[in-house]
Amino acid sequence: MPHHGNISFTPGATGLSLEPSPVTNEISKDKNVHVKPTARKFDHRFSAEGLSLAPTPLKDTVKTLDFAKMIPLGNGRPASEMLPWEELTMRVAKRDTGLMSCVKGESSFDLAVALDYGCSGGSTKLVDFLTEHVESIHHPPYSDWQTCLSIGSTSAIERALRLFCNRGDWILVEEYTYSGLITAGKTLGINMLAIEMDDGGLNANDLDAKLSAWGPEKGKKPFVLYTVPSGQNPTGKTQSVQRKRLIYEVAEKHDLYIVEDDPYYFLQHGNFSKGTSNLTAKEYQTHLPATYLSLDLSGRVLRLDSASKILAPGLRLGWVTGCAQVIGKFIEQADMSTLAASGPSQVMVHKLLCETWGHGGFMNWLFDLSLQYRKRRDTMSAACAKYLPSVCHWTLPAVGMFLWIKVDHTQLSSRSSPLALEEKICEELEGKGLMVGRGSWFWVGSESMNELCFRLTFAAAPQERLEQAIRILAEQILLYT
Ligand SMILES: Cc1ncc(COP(=O)(O)O)c(C=O)c1O
Repeated sequence: MPHHGNISFTPGATGLSLEPSPVTNEISKDKNVHVKPTARKFDHRFSAEGLSLAPTPLKDTVKTLDFAKMIPLGNGRPASEMLPWEELTMRVAKRDTGLMSCVKGESSFDLAVALDYGCSGGSTKLVDFLTEHVESIHHPPYSDWQTCLSIGSTSAIERALRLFCNRGDWILVEEYTYSGLITAGKTLGINMLAIEMDDGGLNANDLDAKLSAWGPEKGKKPFVLYTVPSGQNPTGKTQSVQRKRLIYEVAEKHDLYIVEDDPYYFLQHGNFSKGTSNLTAKEYQTHLPATYLSLDLSGRVLRLDSASKILAPGLRLGWVTGCAQVIGKFIEQADMSTLAASGPSQVMVHKLLCETWGHGGFMNWLFDLSLQYRKRRDTMSAACAKYLPSVCHWTLPAVGMFLWIKVDHTQLSSRSSPLALEEKICEELEGKGLMVGRGSWFWVGSESMNELCFRLTFAAAPQERLEQAIRILAEQILLYT
């Protein structure tokens, strides 16, 4: 028998492998979808690699043939009786929902299907569920949008860059940004134009000013905007809906393509719930703020969602939503590289979301998770208020898992540069058993970084050690005052 929260695999007998059908998610959309405008075309925006992408002949047969009725001599997939597993059972942690099992030959999500090659965009049932989820949360205002699976947002970022950018191109990013994007951009030879941030996150005026001042001598004008709008990594800042509208206007003006990387969106700490401790999951959902996808009349947004922060990072599973033209390219990329997200991961998510929780249960989970993160955030920020010296500044994040500490280095006794100070302080902290994120890991500004910043996450450490951690950090900074 599996243990609480565990998964067990049973080796065993044979089963019939049914081919999953291709991604078609029209039925999961709002019934008014056909009265909405269609997305613009983006042929003029694809990179050389993006333009070269084409359907793979063998994979294309999946869309036209009913494999269940065929003698399959055409492709190299092992028959299900060659596979060593027969059953997979799972139990949900902390919930009284019994066992979830997946066996060979079952009608809902056959284990043999999960263990077989699958469609690169994801299994139909899971994609349909996620399409309904996207529809109910974001209500995309144009008709020909689609959702498909990714193998997580790190991969989706790299794929988006390859789809739209050639070596030497520029993209637009927040001046502190997610380190995974920096690594992908550097490796692909893509330059990053840093846009200033203020308390409300990415600054729309600076974005407009930099694009308006762009001259041909600098190369091709950047048009990909990569942004992390909620609980930004690393600064913890969240763009208001008003800010998103301003940025979307700039995007329309300069014909930008927005990559909305939003893995922290559901970890809302409760600006929406002033004094309402009895808030229900339904109310939580109605208070979720509009996203770029919900403002996107032209189909110029690729929204990246990830299971990593809301279910489990080891699933390596996410979903991307954008106009059909871009999602089509995205699936063709997967056809030639990663193929589908892992079948067992898809089954785990399908059994949990589609068969056990449903949309309401998923919302309950996300709401509970937000409340837990809010508690951790409050513990950490109370410790900051108690221990950190006055040279330290931070604001309470409204979303996500990061607290960003800025140290006024001009008030410190040391005359070393912020970078040298950061190195020294972090090494000393590591010697005392505390690891914090270094601001320089995330900096993409053109000038050298002239700030001393630390990214702290309240997600990973046990709640009861958060105060101790802040005390260690405070004592170390105090040595420099
Ligand atoms: C902004 C951002 N995007 C993407 C990721 C990674 O997501 P995934 O695990 O889906 O690759 C992270 C995780 O740290 C992140 O902060």
